[in-house]
Amino acid sequence: MAQTFDLTAYLDRYRQEVETALDAYLPMGYPPKIYEAMRYSLLAGGKRLRPILVLASCELCGGVPQTAMPTACAVEMIHTMSLIHDDLPAMDNDDYRRGKLTNHKVYGEDIAILAGDGLLAYAFELIAARTEAPPDRVVKVIELLARSVSAAGLVGGQVVDLEMEGNPEATEAMLDYIHQHKTAALLEASVLAGAIVAGAGAEELELLRQYSQNIGLAFQIIDDILDITSTQAELGKSVGKDEKAQKLTYPKLWGIEVSQSKAQKLAAEAQQILQRFNDRAIPLQALADYIVARTN
Ligand code: FPP
Ligand code: MG
Repeated sequence: MAQTFDLTAYLDRYRQEVETALDAYLPMGYPPKIYEAMRYSLLAGGKRLRPILVLASCELCGGVPQTAMPTACAVEMIHTMSLIHDDLPAMDNDDYRRGKLTNHKVYGEDIAILAGDGLLAYAFELIAARTEAPPDRVVKVIELLARSVSAAGLVGGQVVDLEMEGNPEATEAMLDYIHQHKTAALLEASVLAGAIVAGAGAEELELLRQYSQNIGLAFQIIDDILDITSTQAELGKSVGKDEKAQKLTYPKLWGIEVSQSKAQKLAAEAQQILQRFNDRAIPLQALADYIVARTN
């Protein structure tokens, strides 16, 4: 299987399934303005990496990926809402996301805040209402995801990120905290949630936790590099923002080359951690490479 696995086809297939499910799970409703705003950002494309991690992890643990589709889409809704709020003038004040004007630029700040709130609430409703798995697994998934976006996760990471802008006293420990919470927490929750839906045991969950911590950090290192080396056309959002905001980043600490090789090392370790799953780990192992090799 190792030689025949086609990651591009795998990603395309799951991406298409996720796009169809997102569109179906969030149809237009009343009042139309808010549904339009939520759908504008949710259906704006993107790598759909987090939902694909949910589905791949469910598959790895012997589950039927479709059972994890509500969770996969919920994770994408949460990710999208965090980006809508991150782009607001009170936060990063950005004009472009996923190659389109940011939500508040189109719908105004008031509606953009509410679109984020609507997506966050609906994400949890979707998991609870549509997951066809034993209720104890569903409750566990909800607990895990709620924690990953709380002050102990994404929200906490974003607060320290805001504090660190232009702060000459910023340390590597603060940088690690930000990335573990702002980025890695939701990636980890995605991988674990898919496994929980499939009924994974404690040992499997522990290996997947280690795997996701590695890919979470690798993902962020590459993000920091791309902010320096890529273009707005490639990323679909403005670039050079870390330098402008005088943010401490991994490439600033270590240089681009060392950062790149650290990311590669983290991905290789992540692949090693999953060896115990044999061939079933191939998609998640390939995803670790994809995270490091990505150009957007
Ligand atoms: C992008 O980082 C931002 C995030 C990954 C998360 C931001 C989190 C919040 C706004 C909190 C959201 C609230 C809840 C309840 C989840 P970045 O600015 O470094 O990257 P960018 O270049 O893509 O904007
Ligand atoms: Mg931002």
